[in-house]
Amino acid sequence: MFRKSKSIVGLDLGSSVVKAIEISLEGPEPVVTGFARIEIPPDGSHEEAVEACFREGRFRSKRVVTSVAGQSVVVRYVPMMKMSDNELKQAIRFETDKYLPFDLDEVVMDCQSVEGVSPASSDGSMPEDSSNAEDDQMTVLLAACKTEAIDAQAKMVQSKGLQHIAIDVDLFALANAWELCGVLPGDVEGEKRGIALVDVGATRTSINVLYGGKTCFGREINIGGADMTQAVARRLSVETFEAEAIKRASEAQEAEVNSAIAPVLEDLVSEISLSLDYVEHHAGINVEEILLSGGGVLAPGVAGFIEQATARRARSWNPLEGLRVDASRVDVEELEAWAPTLVVAVGLASRVRAA
Ligand SMILES: Nc1ncnc2c1ncn2[C@@H]1O[C@H](COP(=O)(O)OP(=O)(O)OP(=O)(O)O)[C@@H](O)[C@H]1O
Ligand SMILES: [Mg+2]
Repeated sequence: MFRKSKSIVGLDLGSSVVKAIEISLEGPEPVVTGFARIEIPPDGSHEEAVEACFREGRFRSKRVVTSVAGQSVVVRYVPMMKMSDNELKQAIRFETDKYLPFDLDEVVMDCQSVEGVSPASSDGSMPEDSSNAEDDQMTVLLAACKTEAIDAQAKMVQSKGLQHIAIDVDLFALANAWELCGVLPGDVEGEKRGIALVDVGATRTSINVLYGGKTCFGREINIGGADMTQAVARRLSVETFEAEAIKRASEAQEAEVNSAIAPVLEDLVSEISLSLDYVEHHAGINVEEILLSGGGVLAPGVAGFIEQATARRARSWNPLEGLRVDASRVDVEELEAWAPTLVVAVGLASRVRAA
């Protein structure tokens, strides 16, 4: 149905910034053909930011993929008997009571079997142990989102004259961006490494641990850049907007900013460590590297702090690395400057390959 159009805009409706990346297939090659980023002011709305994105982005396409995250989404890894995908879609409906805190008629649900090594959840709780799983068992990834959240998002997107192709989950968009850009052909070592994609947004941090390129653990933590801003505001007794500016102008009052955000980073790192220790213990893999993204990691010293406190390599990554950018349509300097915050948008737009 959509064969003719080969562009998709990944529209990341972040809690503080709306980010849009258009990827087009030129032959088999994915090319970045549009980019816009709009910060939502304190009295602003997602709706206005989306409008502004499409005014500024010079996108070819109106086809968008968005995502959901946070309280309305639940992700679970469920142990099931081995069965076909079709059987699974039927059978999972009888399992949901045990795993979802919502009624079945309140949610939109999707599931797939994964080469999972352990069950995991997105609500902050540590999952149960399934390390004794028998051979006739498989791990099923179950994602459910409140219907009202999906409907509200779809309505908003459609009211802007956009064509809504799909709704993903932030957590999984991270893995899709990695798959599009991160796994270099022939990186045999990469296949055998455990890596943690950690996106520190404004209100939440998403973790997706990959092994051999496949998700084996996912979780959200309710800590992010907004908590750092609040910590700076309290420390310096200034308003939130002033604290935000001080935090970003890192040279200005670097020592104060560092010491104000340190407790937030400590809380964040302790949750990240808990998750990674869990994966290592239950899955028997080594998580050697933490790849950081999201605006929260732009604060001074974050990568170094995480590296030291988790005793694992940590660096921020650029989901656009290796992707060609159409410089006639995109402000390349601006794109590069914000690249680490664009992982979810890139992951959403990567669906262009399946369109
Ligand atoms: N230069 C900077 N230094 C420190 N923090 C920054 C900088 N630039 C942006 N941020 C922070 O990045 C955060 C926004 O990042 P991002 O766009 O990833 O969040 P979001 O996607 O809107 O949020 P969420 O994923 O939680 O919904 C804000 O908290 C902002 O303060
Ligand atoms: Mg985000």
